[in-house]
Amino acid sequence: MQLDVLTLFPEWFEWFQTQRHVRNAVQEGHSLRTFNPRDHTPLSGGQVDDTPFGGGAGMVLRVDVMDQALRGIYNQDPVDLRRERRVIALTPGGRMLDDGLVDELAAEPAITLLCGRYEGFDERIVQHFASDAISVGRFVLSGGELAAMVVMDAVLRKLPGALGHADSALEESFSQALGGDPEYPHYTRPADYRGWKVPPVLLSGHHEEIATWRRARSQERGVVGPTAHPIDPEPGDARRTGGPDPFGPMSDPAPRGSGPDPFGPMSG
Ligand SMILES: C[S@@+](CC[C@H](N)C(=O)[O-])C[C@H]1O[C@@H](n2cnc3c(N)ncnc32)[C@H](O)[C@@H]1O
Repeated sequence: MQLDVLTLFPEWFEWFQTQRHVRNAVQEGHSLRTFNPRDHTPLSGGQVDDTPFGGGAGMVLRVDVMDQALRGIYNQDPVDLRRERRVIALTPGGRMLDDGLVDELAAEPAITLLCGRYEGFDERIVQHFASDAISVGRFVLSGGELAAMVVMDAVLRKLPGALGHADSALEESFSQALGGDPEYPHYTRPADYRGWKVPPVLLSGHHEEIATWRRARSQERGVVGPTAHPIDPEPGDARRTGGPDPFGPMSDPAPRGSGPDPFGPMSG
């Protein structure tokens, strides 16, 4: 896969490119390239943005600059380019990233990620140059760089050879192997710590029983929701992001961040 990122801050990706799974993917023949639209701007002084028509705070990334940048990189009108490769505008209001979408992207031969900054893109960039508008969550980051890394990280680890153990990505939260449910809980040594004991079945050595137990825990989490990690309740403390304990009753108040989606149902 060819993964390209258009960003005003390519140096953000230097660290990302040193990460083992990214290096593994590159060794497997995949590529990760960054391009700075500022290097392609037809405007003087490296200008890439301008004030919004209609007034308001902040600066907006210019459509002519993004046009020139995409033409310069791909030697093609970006209106045609998006028919040949996924060109993804990262934007808070886009299609929400989930495991299904990651699978979809991981099957692509080439992806281009457009990172916004400041007030965001001139809407015509999204409308005419992008094949997709993707959001990593209903919150606002300062720029598309971290969102791009989230997308790339999730996609890269799906590619054969990226992870140290090929099996690691098979039985993970939301995978087909787990029927789309969150993963079951893991434990390691010590088996008893401060009186918190590991479930005995995991120490039994009975592989079938362990598999059954794990599948059941995974399904329980699927019923409760992806935030269903059991968190020991602390009376009066609402600063918790875990959901109700699927292993027993909880006295915790409603968890934060798990209310109904104000945008309505997510796209799949
Ligand atoms: C400060 S944000 C612009 C926010 C925009 N004014 C709004 O209210 O939707 C700058 C850039 O960060 C990126 N960004 C911020 N939050 C994001 C998110 N949740 N998902 C994907 N990209 C995001 C986008 O590329 C965006 O253009």
